Amino acid sequence: MTRILFYLDEPGRELWQPVFEAAMPGVDFRVYPDWGSPEDGPAYAFVWEPELGLIAKYPNIQAIFSLGAGVDHLTRDPTIPLELPIVRMSDDGLKEGMAEFVLMTVLMHHRLMPRMLNAQRKRHWQRLFPKRARDLRVGILGYGALGIACAAALKPLDYQLAAWSRSQKPAEEGVKHFTGPEQFDEFLARTDILIGLLPSTPETTGLLNKQTMSLMPKHASIINVGRGTLINPDDLVAMLDSGHLSGATLDVFTKEPLDSNDPLWDHEKINITPHIASITRPETAAEYVARNIEKIEQGQQPENVLDRKRGY
Ligand code: NDP
Ligand code: OXD
Repeated sequence: MTRILFYLDEPGRELWQPVFEAAMPGVDFRVYPDWGSPEDGPAYAFVWEPELGLIAKYPNIQAIFSLGAGVDHLTRDPTIPLELPIVRMSDDGLKEGMAEFVLMTVLMHHRLMPRMLNAQRKRHWQRLFPKRARDLRVGILGYGALGIACAAALKPLDYQLAAWSRSQKPAEEGVKHFTGPEQFDEFLARTDILIGLLPSTPETTGLLNKQTMSLMPKHASIINVGRGTLINPDDLVAMLDSGHLSGATLDVFTKEPLDSNDPLWDHEKINITPHIASITRPETAAEYVARNIEKIEQGQQPENVLDRKRGY
């Protein structure tokens, strides 16, 4: 019988067991703290932000499934054995959710909605006239599972799309590709609305700072839905205050939840959402986990295993 050790310290925990029981008949789905004894038989962990040291106490764990696409909540724990495979979430629900959020926020920035909402609060009848979509250059920083899903959602609107990634991508109609540090500046210089969809790694940390953001066109805006470590927040505020950047939507932060006294909350050019750009949905996630457990049990490589060297 397949045993799953589930850890989620957030509301909605109770939704998961019935969905897994439907997707994997006979599964022994254990919700933390009811994980049983470390001596019990083989198990798979399915977790989000587990307590430090918890996974290492269960030597019978065969693989860890991350509830999220990001795995920084696991790599921060030095006690997790390096050889234990970590499978990143990449189910259809996560892609759909991210595409919806990014489409919504790109349109908001394009149609100058944050400025209209600020004007409303001040009772200003302020008529603003946005550019045509085809005259706006949208750039996706990180062209993996989620970046690709966002590009597919944005294409029908006719934006000038580009993407930046670590490795070279094949030519694609409607998306101009940029690769590696050598093409980063060129990518930034052509980006009016930037979407951050990068994992948190040493290479991506602090990539957006005063020097790099100043390469972006005047009045550009930033949507960060990858990880908070991408942006130096003080530099972002300075770029917004100087008028070089026109606005930012931030869904992710270096420290979450964002402190209630953090000045980012009150900045009139910043919109904040609490790491909800895309939420892992039980139905599609259960199907994804079930499919990958089957692969592991058949001796095959599961999808989206964390490459410890790359960091994602
Ligand atoms: P993928 O691994 O599929 O894609 C990551 C992309 O980032 C790839 O295109 C990769 O390049 C690129 N990349 C990584 N490092 C570098 C680098 N040093 N330089 C250039 N490009 C780099 O991940 P996903 O698309 O599934 O997810 C992306 C991130 O989104 C997650 O790691 C997570 O942090 C975040 N996330 C946020 C959510 C939210 O609600 N806010 C929800 C889900 C995820 P290459 O293609 O060459 O490998
Ligand atoms: C994440 C997620 O990694 O929610 O942020 O999937």
